[in-house]
Amino acid sequence: MIKKKLKYQVKLNGKKIKTCVFISGSGTNLKSLINYSRNYNFPANISLVISNNVNAKGLLIAKKHGIKYKFFSPSNKKKFERACLLQLRCNKIKLLCLAGFMQILSKKFINTFGYKIINIHPSLLPKYKGLNTHKRVLRNKEKYSGCTVHYVNDNLDSGKIILKKRVYTNTNDTEETLRLKILNEEHSLYPKSIISMFK
Ligand code: GRF
Repeated sequence: MIKKKLKYQVKLNGKKIKTCVFISGSGTNLKSLINYSRNYNFPANISLVISNNVNAKGLLIAKKHGIKYKFFSPSNKKKFERACLLQLRCNKIKLLCLAGFMQILSKKFINTFGYKIINIHPSLLPKYKGLNTHKRVLRNKEKYSGCTVHYVNDNLDSGKIILKKRVYTNTNDTEETLRLKILNEEHSLYPKSIISMFK
């Protein structure tokens, strides 16, 4: 567990918080965050996107919206994290959102960054942490699943919960139909969570 408190607390003072999104894949949550951030009253501005996958579609979304984006190879985790920290510092990032980012950040990274890091997970945490959530939910014949936005600490999917949204399963659901139903809810839950953080 990370015992140290965050080094820096952010005061908005009427300005939007400079935010970075880490992605690895399709970037639909990134797209939704960008759309919300264009609203005058939304507290965050997406200023930087970093991917550990050179083929992530989300990089094209960043490009299309004129947002600075970077790819760093994940093959050497230390180098990857060092490169990310440098970018975060240079771009004065004060909030980091993980959105489909398939890599576990080290305790050192979390402590060095020092500002809030949040993640979206496609289950109702604390249930179904980790991978293959939809498969496990359907195997266990759960009546509902959902999605959760939470703070990131050095225990996987275990940080304090910000908001959750329930999504009902039905008997015809496949992993894919459930994934899509939940993903659709994620697109509003993530921005709502950021709004609730800065109220
Ligand atoms: C989402 O389901 C998110 O909960 C999980 O990875 C998926 C990313 O989707 N962590 P996208 O890249 O935002 O489309």
